[in-house]
Amino acid sequence: MISPQPKLSISPDTAALASAAADLIVREAADAVRSRGRFTLVLAGGHTPEQTYALLADGEGGRRLDWSTTWLFFGDERFVPQGDPRSNYALARRALLDRASVPPDHVAAIDTTADSPAAGAAAYAQRLAAFFAQPLDGQPPVFDLILLGLGDDGHTASLFPGAAALGERHAWVTWSPPGTLPPPVDRVTMTFPLLNAARHVVFLVSGTNKAEPLRDVLDGHATVERRPAAGIRPAAGDVTWLVDDAAASMLSAERR
Ligand code: 6PG
Repeated sequence: MISPQPKLSISPDTAALASAAADLIVREAADAVRSRGRFTLVLAGGHTPEQTYALLADGEGGRRLDWSTTWLFFGDERFVPQGDPRSNYALARRALLDRASVPPDHVAAIDTTADSPAAGAAAYAQRLAAFFAQPLDGQPPVFDLILLGLGDDGHTASLFPGAAALGERHAWVTWSPPGTLPPPVDRVTMTFPLLNAARHVVFLVSGTNKAEPLRDVLDGHATVERRPAAGIRPAAGDVTWLVDDAAASMLSAERR
């Protein structure tokens, strides 16, 4: 099956990007709950999504999610304590979870108190298998919406250039040593098989430092080894790139 062409939406600035992302998430949630009675959303790490999370927390402008039917997961996590400022969970907690009083049993955080990142990855996969009532050795579960970021080096989640995790074809979650970008800590990350099973993957990309990897990935010139975000090609799902002008600054005129 040929994956549908990615959609690209360019916003003038970070505030408009956050609004576009929050509006898309609310629309996807309404569709998911109408069709399947719940909305499963994977949060992206890093700082770009922070403004989007805050808009969803405040619910202004009709951007309200029904937390009783919304279930939150993490695409990756730095293997640090949850209170560590480098933790993706800590950022989501500050910008969204505490702010919106999301019921704790609707949030599946990656356990970074496990004996090792590998153990944390195995435990998270088990947790997903239980939530979706699917066997770990079967097809990956299908999330309604997965948010992803893009690193300056073209990584996404914690799938770094040249990393062994890029070659994982069966496990839903794995671990990775640090990439070349900070913070230099081990990671737990969803894998391509799981990410590519999603109904919809949305990248949130902001800043001129993302312009080159974005162009490489969208122009199709990038190998997955060098720009791992190029490996996000859902077999039956959609991909949408929500970017700001700065990140889009190296895209060809016909693509903008
Ligand atoms: C992480 C993220 C990572 C992030 C990109 C972009 O744990 O670092 O999952 O994939 O999304 O590095 O990060 P920024 O949004 O901070 O630029």
